[in-house]
Amino acid sequence: MKKKIMAVFGTRPEAIKMAPLLKKLENKKNYHLVITVTAQHREMLDQVLNLFALEADYDLDIMQPKQTLSEVTARILNNLAAVLEKEKPELLLVHGDTSTTFVSALASFYQQINIAHIEAGLRTHVKYSPFPEEINRQLTGVLADLHFAPTKRAAQNLIKENIEQEKIYISGNTVIDALLSVVDDNYNFQNPVLKEIDFTKKDVLLLTAHRRENLGEPMENIFRAVRDLTAELPNLEVVFPVHLNPLIRELSKKMLADNSRIHLIEPLDYLPFVNLMARSKIVLTDSGGIQEEAPSLAKPVLVLRDTTERPEALEAGTVLKVGTDYQAIYQQSLKLLKDEAEYQKRAAALNPYGDGKAAQRIVNALDHYFGFSQNRPADFQA
Ligand code: UD1
Ligand code: UDP
Repeated sequence: MKKKIMAVFGTRPEAIKMAPLLKKLENKKNYHLVITVTAQHREMLDQVLNLFALEADYDLDIMQPKQTLSEVTARILNNLAAVLEKEKPELLLVHGDTSTTFVSALASFYQQINIAHIEAGLRTHVKYSPFPEEINRQLTGVLADLHFAPTKRAAQNLIKENIEQEKIYISGNTVIDALLSVVDDNYNFQNPVLKEIDFTKKDVLLLTAHRRENLGEPMENIFRAVRDLTAELPNLEVVFPVHLNPLIRELSKKMLADNSRIHLIEPLDYLPFVNLMARSKIVLTDSGGIQEEAPSLAKPVLVLRDTTERPEALEAGTVLKVGTDYQAIYQQSLKLLKDEAEYQKRAAALNPYGDGKAAQRIVNALDHYFGFSQNRPADFQA
């Protein structure tokens, strides 16, 4: 008898990280996969669905401009209930730490449907950092019946919270599966701005910023630092694919649009984005996923946050936590861009987060959980 599994996701990073697993599950004879998207993101989600040829069975289409956390929560909770009621899956798959993740898990709990949490166990242990993601992930962990921890450290965090070891699988992060499937040395950019940049001659700084706790003054500091870096370094080009959050678009336009070496572009499809990262010199970001991808591409990353739930690459030195203080961002970037020895020290290729086989490990673990296989899959080892 096939087991019905429902995957629910809603934002760009969830879709990217779920895609490798869903592509595998689609073809498995033991499973009937149902895909539900909340569409907490609309355009940025659809980009990923198209790239990986994923089709949603249900689309809750909940996104509104400038949506608040309460609105997102209420819309998902109300709309998902009917889908779960109708489909009655045996297991719900959720990923990560977004509102979609937590609220979908809550909706399943209300119908006593078991929950598998992918990318479980990452922690800062700081309530408001990242906000609301730290608590979204912790609450999802409380609700989950199966935990796919990407790393040993994430698994240890769960064990400290008294989650039974039996229910934890160390899988590696599926983002590395996704990354390896799209990175391509011969990729040609279609984007008119990227087409014009000579990556062999210019130092390209790739910037992304979108965290709620960075909106306002922290983001102003980030933008000011980047602007001043272009004044100091004549060979520097900044590429900033601007998140569709209107608050970020308004501020970036106001502070950066008049600088000819700062390129504000639309969010890129995953394929050009990864290949842009591979050709950039350094990355400045407050993103979670990019902190995992860049080390794999040997790109030094300055993390524009005060905390990180991904300490592995920090310890190795490829990732540096700089926060959102103007001086810290400016000085650390300058050091990396001017001091070749410092740069080389930090540009080491590193794969603490995965080996490209996470999705297969998760499928094997599901087989084990449902009794299709007697063997518990071996853990991912960094
Ligand atoms: C959300 C997640 C965050 C994740 C991020 C990835 C929550 C609370 N936040 O943050 O954890 O890191 O996604 O990018 O779950 N918008 C569009 N089109 C899109 C996407 C967004 O117009 O395709 C605009 C809308 O006006 C929307 C706003 O961006 O209201 C914010 O989107 P939202 O999902 O609430 O928050 P993010 O900051 O994107
Ligand atoms: N990404 C993308 N296009 C962009 C910027 C980012 O495809 O223009 C990808 C990136 O490679 C990573 C993911 O989106 O896999 C990260 O998403 P985001 O930073 O929005 O969210 P977070 O990881 O912080 O939750």
